[in-house]
Amino acid sequence: METLEGMKRTHHCGELRKSDVGKEVVLCGWVSRRRDHGGLIFVDMRDRSGLVQVVYDESEMNEGTFHKAESLRNEFVIAVRGKVRGRSEDTVNPKMDTGEIEVVCAELRILNTSKTPPFYIQDGVDVDENLRLKYRYLDLRRPEMQKNIMLRHKVTMIMRNYFDKHGFLEIETPMLCKSTPEGARDFLVPSRLNAGTFYALPQSPQIYKQILMLAGYEKYFQIVRCFRDEDLRADRQPEFTQLDVETSFLSQEEILTFTEGMIKNLFKEAIGAEIETPMLRMTWDDAMDRFGSDKPDLRFGMELMDISEYMGGSDFKVFNSVLENGGQVKCIKVDGYADIPRRELDRLVEYVKNYGAKGLAWIQYAPEGVKSPFKKFYPQETFDKIAEETGAKTGDLLLVVADKRLVVAQALGALRLEMGRMRNLIDPDKLCFLWVIDFPMFEYSEEEKRWKAMHHPFTAPRNEDIQYLKSDPGRVKANAYDMVLNGVEIGGGSLRIYDSELQEQVFEAVGLTPEVAHERFGFMMDAFKYGTPPHGGLAFGLDRLVMLMAKRPSIRDVIAFPKTQSGTDVMSQAPSTVEDKQLRELHIRTVVPKKTEKKQ
Ligand code: AMO
Ligand code: AMP
Repeated sequence: METLEGMKRTHHCGELRKSDVGKEVVLCGWVSRRRDHGGLIFVDMRDRSGLVQVVYDESEMNEGTFHKAESLRNEFVIAVRGKVRGRSEDTVNPKMDTGEIEVVCAELRILNTSKTPPFYIQDGVDVDENLRLKYRYLDLRRPEMQKNIMLRHKVTMIMRNYFDKHGFLEIETPMLCKSTPEGARDFLVPSRLNAGTFYALPQSPQIYKQILMLAGYEKYFQIVRCFRDEDLRADRQPEFTQLDVETSFLSQEEILTFTEGMIKNLFKEAIGAEIETPMLRMTWDDAMDRFGSDKPDLRFGMELMDISEYMGGSDFKVFNSVLENGGQVKCIKVDGYADIPRRELDRLVEYVKNYGAKGLAWIQYAPEGVKSPFKKFYPQETFDKIAEETGAKTGDLLLVVADKRLVVAQALGALRLEMGRMRNLIDPDKLCFLWVIDFPMFEYSEEEKRWKAMHHPFTAPRNEDIQYLKSDPGRVKANAYDMVLNGVEIGGGSLRIYDSELQEQVFEAVGLTPEVAHERFGFMMDAFKYGTPPHGGLAFGLDRLVMLMAKRPSIRDVIAFPKTQSGTDVMSQAPSTVEDKQLRELHIRTVVPKKTEKKQ
């Protein structure tokens, strides 16, 4: 193997341009691709900045160097000294940033060899994600992954500068702490020094940032890792990063306005996108009723429409019983899809069932007349009225769900997205931001038979609703807000309770007895008795933000070392068993159920 001694890199591969023609350069990087044309070898050489073509011409170099070039294989690490020359017009490669030039090699050093990689290190490869994650170091070498990781860096730099300029302090908070209240399951860390006790990894810095407000820091932010032991999806990881923010003495409107400014600046600087502010604000009730979601994707219409008033009083039992029990019949209109195949309808019936609906009905306004599973229960006049109300024309399709309000919302909301995707109604280049505001304070958990905080229990209820905390918790709205981009919740927060009595009432409303509340949050409630300012804030999911900016389908594409759906790191094989000695020191004994015993 050769060394770099006496050779000093002068340029990065991807930055060479026509204006560099004639320069002698020294490049370091990896062999991305080698093409051998007899006396002429072309090597695409790669470093973090991109690719450049290096030419090895037998007639222009000494034999030893040419031989060396013949031995090059993909992913060898090389250093090249050579001259930049312009390519003739017919050999210009418009797909490459450096496609107008090439480097004619004068000296080549092989700094290291490489085994043959298990997949091609290039963009757009169709490789099983588990293989990519196992060889993450190779996956990360791919230009598109490097772009994502560099974008992520840029995003955090812009954020830090922006907050600094506006008088915010970045303050670190503990990773080993007491359980926080975001409502997911905690990751626990056993304490060696205090037998039988555990730290929780923070689900967010929520409590600490509120305590920082009471400690007088006024404007706090932190780019911080959070940990939640929940079921994973494309936009969820067990450890993820938040841009966490808290401020004192600001109204909700002031917080929203400041945050919009930050996001506007971020999108402009990071990806050159212009975002209009103020952003649209939509109440939670409107979002649920019109889009069937608390994170509506506004890149297309297809709003939910209520047709309950036309559906009552017939012999159709399904709708009658729903309406009699206070439910709704709602629909979405899919333009020009009255000829939907039966097979597809059957699939959609199954689809909505995954979202809690008991069934799906439809009205096809076909040229030959209305087709619908409930046609025989209603006169033609009813279908005409519905057409008028919903704007359905001949050729259009209505998909109908009847159930309780939230079930209808969930099922039709999901179906709306599915139809939007299927009918190609979603413009991938659009950025549709909005704030969802006026969230309910509580949601009822059928499973636990109790009210739970929808955001977290430190969220302030609206003043005018405090009177219903005990008598009608479902009616209480919170000073809480989420920022939504293209159907993804990218951030959320609230004004906080700063009165310890009100805090106790809210704990009580979510079923925390004073003893349990004291045990879990006593330190915070005590602290709050020492002059707490009004305060509020929010947190963004950094991974989700960068995912959307990079137009990737999964946050795993913008995290250097993510976990799989089952929470494992297939590269390092974490989690893994540990030595008995380590467990003894931690005063821990494990009981592994036979069935789930980990395959090693
Ligand atoms: P919340 O729980 O809404 O609020 O989280 C804030 C944002 O973090 C992102 N996020 C996630 N991203 C990836 N993987 C996950 N498992 C995950 N969970 C959440 C989302 C979400 O909008 N302490 C409060 C904020 C506050 O009140 O100030 C909090 O954590 O984009
Ligand atoms: P059933 O009596 O369950 O066979 O239902 C008759 C028809 O009503 C089905 O073919 C569905 O099209 C429709 N249907 C059933 N349940 C619902 C529901 N919850 N919402 C909308 N349509 C439904």
